[in-house]
Amino acid sequence: MGLHAAFRKRFLDVLASIYIYNEHRGYTSLDRVLDAVRARCPEDAAFIAAVEKHRADEEKHYRMFKRWFELRGEMPLKVDRTCGHIDHFIESVFGCTIEDLDTGAIVADPDAFEKLCRVIMVTEQRGMAQVEVLLTNPHIRSDKAMTRIFEIVEKDEPSHWQPYDAWLRAHGRRPNATWRERWTDYWIHKSLMLAKLPAVFLNRRNPRLTAWPDEDATVYA
Ligand SMILES: [Fe+2]
Ligand SMILES: [Fe+2]
Repeated sequence: MGLHAAFRKRFLDVLASIYIYNEHRGYTSLDRVLDAVRARCPEDAAFIAAVEKHRADEEKHYRMFKRWFELRGEMPLKVDRTCGHIDHFIESVFGCTIEDLDTGAIVADPDAFEKLCRVIMVTEQRGMAQVEVLLTNPHIRSDKAMTRIFEIVEKDEPSHWQPYDAWLRAHGRRPNATWRERWTDYWIHKSLMLAKLPAVFLNRRNPRLTAWPDEDATVYA
């Protein structure tokens, strides 16, 4: 394999591995948000339906990347929560891991819930901007299946942050990210792109997953 072909293969491999981690992290975390929202505001049917749609989309994205790896005959590279945008964001804003986040207490506390909504919104808006960039990338463009995946993600993304924005506005809460939240998002993104992604790319001994995370929730541990 030529150098260009090898670079392209590894680039797509690393990118899809980071995406599949984030998609899986997304829908499993939204399960917990949903439980809390259903318990706290069962009358808010439209909002619950929007979060359910968001959760279903993230699982759909996960399954598209899973299919991509299956067709390639390879498991994704094993990455950890240092490659998770939402992981860093939650840790920075709430001072704990996603596992330790008390979603019930957050939904019960309007200020904390407002922050959680904004973290989800900013993360989704970042995802939306990132997809625009990736869809112009020649390596991605050269892979028909991956281009198609990102086109679907692009189409879904706006509906992922809009319900939280609408909810915050309807409840007289602040929908715009604070200066600190913007700054946090910016640094997480930069460190993912400039440090984490290249580190996985260059680590030839980076192991692969031994099971799919939807079948074995401990594989990323
Ligand atoms: Fe997604
Ligand atoms: Fe999304």
